[in-house]
Amino acid sequence: MTVPQYALGSDDTEIGRLQTQAVMLAGPTELLLQRAGIRRGMRVLDLGAGPGDVTFQVAGMVGAEGYVVGLELDPAQLAVAERRRAAMGVANVEFRQGDACTFATVEPFDAVVCRLLLLHLPNAAEVIRHHRDNLRPGGLIVAIDYDTGSARTLPEVALFSQVLNWLNAAFRHAKADPFIGMRLPTYFEQAGYQKVDSLGLQMYLRPSDPLSAEYVTGVAKAMKPALLRSGVTTEDELGLDTLTQRLADALQSANAVFTMPTVVGVWGRRPG
Ligand SMILES: C[S@@+](CC[C@H](N)C(=O)[O-])C[C@H]1O[C@@H](n2cnc3c(N)ncnc32)[C@H](O)[C@@H]1O
Repeated sequence: MTVPQYALGSDDTEIGRLQTQAVMLAGPTELLLQRAGIRRGMRVLDLGAGPGDVTFQVAGMVGAEGYVVGLELDPAQLAVAERRRAAMGVANVEFRQGDACTFATVEPFDAVVCRLLLLHLPNAAEVIRHHRDNLRPGGLIVAIDYDTGSARTLPEVALFSQVLNWLNAAFRHAKADPFIGMRLPTYFEQAGYQKVDSLGLQMYLRPSDPLSAEYVTGVAKAMKPALLRSGVTTEDELGLDTLTQRLADALQSANAVFTMPTVVGVWGRRPG
């Protein structure tokens, strides 16, 4: 079994960044999962579980009478997820090593969920179709992912636009799709799901909110190898050591609001 070659890597810094991001995304994720139809008692498969944040969140929603399997390809992520599960004493969660592109079950789930996985998979449309067979008839599939095309500042701050453009180019160079949120409704429809619906949520950060600069720099740090490989920028031009401060200063002096990438939830039902 191979470790996924995805653009953000899986060292301790990235696993930590995922957990920080998960805190920020917990509210929108809860809302989207609720709206999609995750309910008490369901048996749920969480694809690309990472350090386990969505798996644990779904476990809370389905309650003790439900059950969640967190599927993850990378042993480093899996080890962290399992350590957290044991430390929290969560009984209705099991983490398994497996590939979200090919995983097949003999005991279909009530729901399949994934967050921030599909943007990394060049075959996202096929993966969405593949999981029809892992759902019981009428079962629910929910994908939560980014549309980074909506991240911007008003008024425009040149440094923000430049870094966001670099990041989008580096994602594409790494065969990831930063606009995947825009494509999911089509993929769901083409896969034959019924009752396809969606909702996008976005944070609008005030000019003095430190999160804007920290968030963009955090992604740029995680993406540094991909940014440099793609050739869109150089280490000197990127200037990671000072990037947070430069971004924060630029936002404040322009008195600009920053909109985070839209967190898009799309869901549908297996016919039957
Ligand atoms: C950006 S992280 C998201 C983690 C978690 N879902 C969250 O939202 O916090 C993507 C995760 O998907 C995993 N992954 C990538 N390709 C995979 C595959 N083919 N099968 C299973 N997991 C995969 C990565 O190892 C990583 O842990």
